[in-house]
Amino acid sequence: MIEVKNIHKSFGDAHILKGISTTFEKGKTSLVIGQSGSGKTVFLKCLLGLFAPEEGSIAYNGNIYSELSDDQKRNLRAEMGMVFQGSALFDSMTIQENVMFPLRMFTKQSKSEMEDRADFVLKRVNLDDAHHKMPSEASGGMQKRVAIARAIVNKPKYLFCDEPNSGLDPKTAIVIDNLIQEITDEYNITTVINSHDMNSVMEIGEKIVFLKDGLKAWEGSKETIFKTDNEVVTDFVYSSELFKKVRKMYLDEN
Ligand SMILES: Nc1ncnc2c1ncn2[C@@H]1O[C@H](COP(=O)(O)OP(=O)(O)O)[C@@H](O)[C@H]1O
Ligand SMILES: [Mg+2]
Repeated sequence: MIEVKNIHKSFGDAHILKGISTTFEKGKTSLVIGQSGSGKTVFLKCLLGLFAPEEGSIAYNGNIYSELSDDQKRNLRAEMGMVFQGSALFDSMTIQENVMFPLRMFTKQSKSEMEDRADFVLKRVNLDDAHHKMPSEASGGMQKRVAIARAIVNKPKYLFCDEPNSGLDPKTAIVIDNLIQEITDEYNITTVINSHDMNSVMEIGEKIVFLKDGLKAWEGSKETIFKTDNEVVTDFVYSSELFKKVRKMYLDEN
């Protein structure tokens, strides 16, 4: 469980996060949504400990990050998996070496232990014969699977994904969303996904946090997001014609 209390983050004079509070539960896939520039990536980097908020606190299973020693921070970082926007694989390493990377950084496992674990998670994301390929030989969807395998290889308690399905076709995007949700459930991870994609909301989003201009404008679930009258949310949700039609059908029926 992650508890975020009133965090503020600025860069020089630019006040980006303006006091955000929320919680993310274990075993759940939570979504942070909002328009481009609303602060999603900055927020996720605060959760990862890459940015230190000037005000407020973030607690991981009750431990407030800013109060941890350097060793404790390092141990906590080892419990975090991250899928960066655009996969961010190392071009010069094979897929298997990419997946082993967090084990090299955070564990003292032998090479064969690391290889076995990498092959296990590659199988889990349904990549059976890809380990000796280079990332450039893999499709966009495969690269995302590799990025997910790398994020979970060290058995994280926390998984953070920044727009994991950007650049994918809608069908592959749904497969990737579902894969992240299955893994979250299977390994009881606290997962936070950034998205600006309403399809993700339909697929996952047990908990949705809506950001606008660095503030939490709304939070709820995918069941409630289609019923809210909050204009900030409806502007976003019904910016697509498809969802306008779905809403009209829904209102006509009820
Ligand atoms: N390292 C940084 N330095 C200065 N401004 C930044 C930095 N990172 C992000 N920003 C600004 O913060 C705002 C929110 O950005 P971001 O979190 O990337 O939005 P989103 O991910 O929702 O598209 C933007 O105006 C962006 O220019
Ligand atoms: Mg972003």
